[in-house]
Amino acid sequence: MNNSPLLTLNNKVKMPAIGLGVFRAAGDEASLAVQAAIASGYRLIDTASAYQNEDQVGRGIAASGVAREELFVTTKLWLNEYGYDAALRAFDASLGRLGLDYVDLYLLHWPVPGNFAATLESWRALENLLYQGRVRAIGVCNFTQTHLEVLMGRTEIVPAVNQVELHPYFNQLDQRQTNARLGIITQSWSPLGGAYGYRPLEKPITPLLEHPVIAAIAKAHGKTTAQVIVRWHVQHGLSVIPKSSNPERIAANAAVFDFALSQPDMDAIDALDNGNRAGPDPDLFDLDYLKMLNARAGK
Ligand SMILES: NC(=O)c1ccc[n+]([C@@H]2O[C@H](COP(=O)([O-])OP(=O)(O)OC[C@H]3O[C@@H](n4cnc5c(N)ncnc54)[C@H](OP(=O)(O)O)[C@@H]3O)[C@@H](O)[C@H]2O)c1
Repeated sequence: MNNSPLLTLNNKVKMPAIGLGVFRAAGDEASLAVQAAIASGYRLIDTASAYQNEDQVGRGIAASGVAREELFVTTKLWLNEYGYDAALRAFDASLGRLGLDYVDLYLLHWPVPGNFAATLESWRALENLLYQGRVRAIGVCNFTQTHLEVLMGRTEIVPAVNQVELHPYFNQLDQRQTNARLGIITQSWSPLGGAYGYRPLEKPITPLLEHPVIAAIAKAHGKTTAQVIVRWHVQHGLSVIPKSSNPERIAANAAVFDFALSQPDMDAIDALDNGNRAGPDPDLFDLDYLKMLNARAGK
């Protein structure tokens, strides 16, 4: 059973530490995953306009039978929706697809360093949505310290959450410390290393879920490697949104509250960091860069 602790955001809103990710869950898969997750105790669901499954997520939420106010729903503004008015329209469209009348957390999906003015305009739209009470909290994804400093220097509201690529191979110690210093909760995307599967790898790497150090710790605790990794995120005080479309794995991934990793366990997993991200570089991000990455991967 997922009895995830709650993290308190900088505007006092409470967010479950563990949630379900639904990137690349297409069609009914997303709806069924959401239902399985909620049935097994998840209360946080992380989707995005770019995932093209908000409608399915909404259907899963409606079919779950759990009251809306018990759930914490996150969605994100995509780059082709950036700009003040465009962002407000995109938010209405996301709400419509989700079948909801508010979201708990609305995130900018990426910074656009080459046109940061558009990022700032979008953030001002999110601030407006927060003032109107149409979202309970607003945040960003993939922001570096510099992006955060520029945003905070030119806008009013400090992001509640910074959702970044974070897993034992790329544990983002500096970014975690920056976020903490600014009062921003760090949320780990690709927490199990899923991003290594997005595109063919230039150099093969041991899948995180099969890493011998993690496998040995998992064996000692009688847990799966995924559970050990999720527990590692939680013990670091992070929010974590593992994706699965498999009901057994969904339930198991969040069943991490009947054991604890020792300090040597935590240190051994921390030591797996290699300083390299698997996903896109936030300093280069825009739609052309993404197109180039996808073309290189034959997508
Ligand atoms: N803000 C951003 O820019 C951004 C970027 C990427 C992702 N995200 C969010 O973060 C979420 C999680 O990241 P992710 O989807 O990239 O990767 P992930 O959660 O690290 O890994 C997901 C992959 O691991 C598999 N898996 C899950 N549990 C497993 C288990 N117990 N044993 C074996 N395999 C398991 C899943 O397959 P099955 O489904 O078959 O179990 C899937 O292929 C996304 O879904 C999305 O919501 C945000």
